[in-house]
Amino acid sequence: MAEASPGGQVLRLLIHGNGERSGQEMAQRLGISRAAVAKTITSLRAQGLEIDAAPRRGYRLISEPPLLLPAMVEARLKPGSLGLPVHHFQEIDSTNLEARRRAETGAPHGTCLVAEHQSAGRGRLDRRWQAPKGSALLFSIILRPDLSLRRVFALNNLVSLAVCRALEKHGGLAPAIKWPNDVYLEGKKLAGVLTEFTSRAEAVEYAVVGVGLNVNQEPAWLAGLDQPAMSLLAATGHAWERATLLAQILEETTALHDQFVAGGGDDLAQEYARRSLILGLDVTVRQGQAVRRGKAVGFAPEGALLLEENGQVSPIHHGDVSLLDWEVLG
Ligand code: BTN
Repeated sequence: MAEASPGGQVLRLLIHGNGERSGQEMAQRLGISRAAVAKTITSLRAQGLEIDAAPRRGYRLISEPPLLLPAMVEARLKPGSLGLPVHHFQEIDSTNLEARRRAETGAPHGTCLVAEHQSAGRGRLDRRWQAPKGSALLFSIILRPDLSLRRVFALNNLVSLAVCRALEKHGGLAPAIKWPNDVYLEGKKLAGVLTEFTSRAEAVEYAVVGVGLNVNQEPAWLAGLDQPAMSLLAATGHAWERATLLAQILEETTALHDQFVAGGGDDLAQEYARRSLILGLDVTVRQGQAVRRGKAVGFAPEGALLLEENGQVSPIHHGDVSLLDWEVLG
């Protein structure tokens, strides 16, 4: 089962320690030497964590820095969760591209890559995805699910759902999803999901699900984008701690992924419909040069939009949706 790095495991014990933890106890629990625990504590301190050491009592976590440190994410994940391990980059072309490169050389299911800045961040339909350094959550997860090609598009939906669940549960927010992959807050785009995959014999070999979530971007920066955009800072008036938020999204993604691969697509489609921005509305769906117009009447368990055109309902597996009456978003 995938486990956190030593830093993540030691920090997990300190977070759940209720005060002090002795080096001896941590060494025993983790099956490593006391010297290895001490070395890990030194490394965590060097990264900016404040950890007290009292003779004969042990170590105590005083504070964590406002940084996106892999140990801070991993410490908040259960063993076996998606997101183990986390790889962090100050600068990368695109976490999706790096995830694909790593997947090609055998990186395991669940690996998460997160960056402070992307020089070539990509959105759907070859659009760019940008964010000022250190302001957003820009991450990709490598998945190796036992999934037929027909169901792969649902990964987009379930990661969008995971973002919504995490923000609702831990932030009291009410985001909504515009099929297939946009998360909206207060009528403006907050996050986007980009899923890419390779297949062999009609089965998914690996998929890379990339998420760009606007976290601490200032309203003035958002106003310069070419479409209405929202950030958590702009919506709530305060900065958000990204490591904890990433762990919360990974935790929700794990639960939804496990439910989906075990056959729980119907439940997910229902929750997706409840959170949908377009359900019941007249929409335009662009698929390359083709344009279809109809009413969004539901979502299939494998992720397709169910579009009613002239009384006929058919599944749409990909496309770009706009609302005929956009003003309804407020
Ligand atoms: C979209 O809304 O068009 C999808 C945007 C996805 C952006 C994320 S940022 C992290 C990951 N790396 C990329 O290059 N793209 C995705």
